[in-house]
Amino acid sequence: MKTRITELFGIERPIIQGGMHYVGFAELAAAVSNAGGLGLITGLTQRTPADLANEIRRCREMTDKPFGVNLTFLPTVSSPDYPGYIKAIIDGGVKAVETAGNNPQKWLPALHEAGVKVIHKCTSVRHSLKAEAIGCDAVSVDGFECGGHPGEDDVPNFILLPRAAESLKIPFVASGGMADGRSLVAAMALGAEGMNMGTRFIATQEAPVHENVKQAIVAATELDTRLVMRPLRNTERVLNNAAVERLLKKEKELGGNIKFEDIIEEVAGVYPKIMKTGDMEAGAWSCGMVAGLIHDIPTVKQLMDRIMQEAEDIIRKRLPGFAG
Ligand SMILES: Cc1cc2nc3c(=O)[nH]c(=O)nc-3n(C[C@H](O)[C@H](O)[C@H](O)COP(=O)(O)O)c2cc1C
Repeated sequence: MKTRITELFGIERPIIQGGMHYVGFAELAAAVSNAGGLGLITGLTQRTPADLANEIRRCREMTDKPFGVNLTFLPTVSSPDYPGYIKAIIDGGVKAVETAGNNPQKWLPALHEAGVKVIHKCTSVRHSLKAEAIGCDAVSVDGFECGGHPGEDDVPNFILLPRAAESLKIPFVASGGMADGRSLVAAMALGAEGMNMGTRFIATQEAPVHENVKQAIVAATELDTRLVMRPLRNTERVLNNAAVERLLKKEKELGGNIKFEDIIEEVAGVYPKIMKTGDMEAGAWSCGMVAGLIHDIPTVKQLMDRIMQEAEDIIRKRLPGFAG
């Protein structure tokens, strides 16, 4: 399938695997790229730029297809060595970067000079237009459904995607709530040139996370996510568990006075405990409403073959029946 996104990144299928903390290691990124999509290593999961450089090397040993790196600019306690990470990306010959969390303008000249294409993840039309204005090559439009940080506007993709299509000239992919061939065709009908998936890719054989995480996603329904940290204007969609309920109780009790320190136990240092150890009550971890559409744990290739087959069937068999 050819779209402006497949052309931009030199990939065969318009499917991107979004950056995911403690999930986006070389194994998953390579599996997605080998299956014709764009796999992404999550930059900040690597503790140092040297670790990222090593992860890029590992990924290159597993695939000769294009892959990228996610670089997230989030309010963290201590600022990571962003110049170092950018250098590791460029020196590693990576040609695709997904930025997220904050304006990437400062880093664009260096990345573009090295021939790196930048797709910025945005949760609003306003931010998407800004990304276009500063010179990003594409946008990943992340609707309210998404796992992770949906922003504070709460606009779901049925509205957000066509609004993005009305406003943007650069290509964009639909992100949040995407799971299968229906998602892909719907996203393209709404104006996107492909889709980005997070949660769906965790429930795959190659995702290098504890089996408990995959089973939790398969067991979850679309009713099982919660929004946390809204009072801190750092809203995150997570899978409900005992820690999340504790966190929400604190938010209710402390109201507008809540500070990050009040919930540190439920949110700091949680990812290794969940993703590596499989301690599913350790704290709040990102998960999309799309969990309700995830019922199995296929290989990445099986998943992506199925998505493309289903999309083709919808386009060639189901939709023509409605025309005329
Ligand atoms: C466990 C998990 C961790 C994530 N970590 C990051 C991250 O570190 N940086 C980032 O930009 N997005 C992160 N995301 C968001 C995804 O890249 C993607 O935008 C989102 O999952 C799309 O929504 P979906 O889960 O409905 O597919 C994360 C999502 C999940 C589920």
